[in-house]
Amino acid sequence: MKKNILIAGGAGYIGSHMCKYLAEKGFRPVVLDNLAYGHRQAVKWGELIEGDVSDSRLLDRLFSEYRFSAVMYFAAFINVGESVTDPAKYYQNNVGAAIHLLESMQRHGAGNLIFSSSCAVYGEPQEIPLTEKHPYHPINPYGRSKLMVEQILSDFDAAYGMKYTSLRYFNAAGADPDGELGEDHNPETHLIPLIFQTVLEKREILSVFGDDYPTKDGTCIRDYIHINDLARAHLLALERLLKGGDSAAYNLGNGAGYSVKEVIDMAEKVSAKTVPYEIKPRRAGDPPVLIGSAEKAVRELGWKPEFPDLESIMKTAWDWHRTHPEGYR
Ligand code: UFG
Repeated sequence: MKKNILIAGGAGYIGSHMCKYLAEKGFRPVVLDNLAYGHRQAVKWGELIEGDVSDSRLLDRLFSEYRFSAVMYFAAFINVGESVTDPAKYYQNNVGAAIHLLESMQRHGAGNLIFSSSCAVYGEPQEIPLTEKHPYHPINPYGRSKLMVEQILSDFDAAYGMKYTSLRYFNAAGADPDGELGEDHNPETHLIPLIFQTVLEKREILSVFGDDYPTKDGTCIRDYIHINDLARAHLLALERLLKGGDSAAYNLGNGAGYSVKEVIDMAEKVSAKTVPYEIKPRRAGDPPVLIGSAEKAVRELGWKPEFPDLESIMKTAWDWHRTHPEGYR
């Protein structure tokens, strides 16, 4: 019999790719999403239960009915800037709602949680690449909300034996190589979708936030990781937990950094079009360089990225944007 996996936030960018991957690998994803940011059209593998992660009665019903083998948690708000101007919204959803889910898991004796964490838990890097041993000094409510949940998970494990894996993503990017799913946030704040929306003339001009950083070309450097490589790491983490593995945290990045200008250049290469851009002031809270070491995931999970270079990542992103210029709408 197929194992049921609850995918909280499964209608979003990472959650939807995860559902497809799990279904292909013989699992049965069950999506819980309130569609505040997710897309109904992105839920094609497994059923969609429309509802809130904070709805304890609904969760109780779902845990009794489906007897989930594991839970994957993607239902967080992700706009760093908004987390600064409206922290209540972020703590309420990213932490408060998560606690409801964890309590339901505990009541039902459910374990095996894979939690979407972020490199934002580290804050300004003291050294590059960032490893899991780097101190935690998140610099915005978004990063703090992720760290708080990681700490809560550790306490739940100590008290109730609830096993979890925190996966700290660097910059998730790219799209389903089959072209069935892609990245569509509303509002869009992420660099690669904004670049391609500009290429497709959905936006007039791209803003580059700062060209006076201490980097080779003055623009910020990030570590982009393909969405399918993220999905594969989740599956490996899930299999490890299902075999009785202990709780752990892993970075997920490619260990290679690309500047905003390099990403623009690559967009021009894969799309064979020009990206009009202008230099704007720095965006608050952007560290100059974020590059992760995923050595631990390679070593302990046997993870190996299939899209280790920016070109292959951006080709999949361009294919999706070009064929879905209006996103999921
Ligand atoms: N950028 C621009 N112009 C834009 C948008 C972004 O120059 O219009 C720059 C940013 O300043 C940054 C880089 O492009 O230097 C990437 O920005 P993104 O917004 O795409 O992603 P972030 O690096 O801000 O990602 C961060 C964390 C992630 C976290 C995510 C949440 O690194 O871990 O925010 O949205 F999940």
